[in-house]
Amino acid sequence: VARTNYGRELWNSLLPLVEEDDGLPALRTQGMWTAKKLYFVCQYLEQFTRGMKNSRTKFPSGLTYVDLFCGTGVSQVEVMGERVRRYPGSPLIAANTPTPFDRLILIDKDPRYTEALRQRLSSAAAIPQIDIHTEDANLAAPAIADRVPHDSLNVMFVDPYSLDIHYETIRRIASTKSMDLLILFSDRFDLGRNVYKYYYPAHEHTKLDRFLGTTNWREQLDQLDDQSGANVRRLFAGIYEHQLEKIGYRYHDRIQLDGPQGPVFTLLYASKHELGLTYCHIAAKEDFEGSRNLFG
Ligand SMILES: C[S@@+](CC[C@H](N)C(=O)[O-])C[C@H]1O[C@@H](n2cnc3c(N)ncnc32)[C@H](O)[C@@H]1O
Repeated sequence: VARTNYGRELWNSLLPLVEEDDGLPALRTQGMWTAKKLYFVCQYLEQFTRGMKNSRTKFPSGLTYVDLFCGTGVSQVEVMGERVRRYPGSPLIAANTPTPFDRLILIDKDPRYTEALRQRLSSAAAIPQIDIHTEDANLAAPAIADRVPHDSLNVMFVDPYSLDIHYETIRRIASTKSMDLLILFSDRFDLGRNVYKYYYPAHEHTKLDRFLGTTNWREQLDQLDDQSGANVRRLFAGIYEHQLEKIGYRYHDRIQLDGPQGPVFTLLYASKHELGLTYCHIAAKEDFEGSRNLFG
């Protein structure tokens, strides 16, 4: 069978770069799903850049990667009873794809994180332009939209801790661009825990209303017969996809990230073109556990 994916090689080449503690801040997490998420991002970005490298006639400004919650470049996973593992964060992956991006636009609101990232990326010579900004992704949405060239092909990763990304931010940045989206949906921790307790009864616009860009989810929730966790998560993913369809995202998919007790997050993938889905599907097929066994 012809190989379609070289993301595993990229992943394995990045692990030794981040293995040693370099004294700079790292993001700390207690869930292996973080590693699964990053592994998927790695597979996907490798696919996307290799697949689209010849698209310059259509996109003279080449390929742009936008990361709205970019972090420090390293994630440290601390699972109880296991040794601490360090993984490459999304901006470090994007800075090292074998077919390089032409431009990285990286945003985080924590100045310690953007400074650590600046230092970690200082040797990523293959990328002609790396812009790192310390700002709130929602407040800075109009400025971010202006930084993304209109004639480049873009992919944007949105990876907040909870439901912190406003739909309006996505609309502002992505609606008029060629931009594939990968958005982490905190549908177990934030949504699952808070929907009935806080979001549903609230009278003013809640974080969930701003995330979804609509308030009419309450009626849809009322009409749902089976209000099991899985069904509620499915309803909200569907509502979000419908919102994305309004700004041109006709093609979408969901990648479920599991923890030991079942689903924890959903990664929502969306594209305005069918081809984008192909890359997402190939990336999703790559087995993180299998890779761990193979490469320790
Ligand atoms: C889950 S981490 C991102 C991890 C990163 N994608 C990676 O792969 O390593 C979330 C990040 O969002 C940042 N953050 C939180 N709220 C933000 C906001 N409103 N705008 C920009 N960054 C924000 C945090 O400082 C944190 O670094």
